[in-house]
Amino acid sequence: MNRVRNFCAGPCTLPVEVLAEVQDELLDYQGSGMSLIEMSHRSSDYDAVHSAALDRLRRTLEVPDEFEVLFLQGGALLQFAMVPMNLVPAGSSVGHVRSGAWGKAAHADAERVCSAYLAWDGTDHRFSRMPQPDEIEVRPGTRYVHVTSNETIEGIQLRSLPDLGVPLVVDISSDFLTQPIDWERVDLVYGGVQKNLGPAGLAVVVIRRSALEDCVAGLPSYLGYAGHAAAGSLLNTPPMFSIYVMEKMLRWIQDRGGLSGMAERATRRSNRIYDVIDSSSGFYTGPAQPQARSRTNLVFRLASPDLDGRFLAEARQSGLVNLKGHRSVGGMRASIYNAMPDEGVEELASFMRDFAGSAG
Ligand SMILES: Cc1ncc(COP(=O)(O)O)c(C=O)c1O
Repeated sequence: MNRVRNFCAGPCTLPVEVLAEVQDELLDYQGSGMSLIEMSHRSSDYDAVHSAALDRLRRTLEVPDEFEVLFLQGGALLQFAMVPMNLVPAGSSVGHVRSGAWGKAAHADAERVCSAYLAWDGTDHRFSRMPQPDEIEVRPGTRYVHVTSNETIEGIQLRSLPDLGVPLVVDISSDFLTQPIDWERVDLVYGGVQKNLGPAGLAVVVIRRSALEDCVAGLPSYLGYAGHAAAGSLLNTPPMFSIYVMEKMLRWIQDRGGLSGMAERATRRSNRIYDVIDSSSGFYTGPAQPQARSRTNLVFRLASPDLDGRFLAEARQSGLVNLKGHRSVGGMRASIYNAMPDEGVEELASFMRDFAGSAG
């Protein structure tokens, strides 16, 4: 076996221990004579996995009792529309923080289904920082303000959720389970799981029960949160494989200190790489302002874009892959999610230092 260090922005690396367990159970799940993904989603074997995953997600993310956890399909992208469809009654509006490419996309979809205004726009700052709370405009009649806690493409992150006097809706897709959530400030958080806690195919929505009760009625069945909540996220056939693997991944996270363990890992590991950048005498530069630097998506540029090809090729030879930045930003991006082993981060740090030494 020759596994690489995979810095992909998502889907991304999963722990070898989790993959090995899946492999081990694939042909015969706990003596049933079939794999879990061949079973009915109404079977008792699957039901046990489903309930355990819901329970583990709640405990690991430290979700208070007044919130409901839902497992949905359609990725985080569907939530860009589903959240306003459910939460915004006629006559209300929503404010959107356009902090980067994903915040921009969330606003664009919300505009298609409700009255949505820009509460803050980071375009002029080239998405290099997050807003201060007093820069965010909250208009009368605002149902919620939508923020993206971590902009995956630009590599900037909110360190804490702002108190705006109205509830927040937070897209936590790319820093899911890497920093605590201030639940008092939110009505809903959502994220795809394919970065920090499992394979693609599953989105998690955590919604305040009072907001659930007030959801807009009469939506088509899949689009209404209330139906999913009433059915325990078994309204229709769920993405069983993703839920099954995520349950194992959540166990892996719990064994490593849970949310606080993952938060400590994310801080320590991102600092390791930012230290290399900051001590490279300008060979590496990061477009994000230091106080907004993401702990999961580390975006940096080399002294010259002419060196990009060589950097990527030599990184590949060293077993470090998927470091190319998003095409809209250029440069490099190292996505360091929960499952990345510490050794992978150490290898990246020493590769970057050696490369700067030889090419700088
Ligand atoms: C912050 C953020 N929001 C939304 C999305 C879209 O997620 P999905 O592909 O699960 O629809 C992504 C995907 O990378 C993301 O990083």
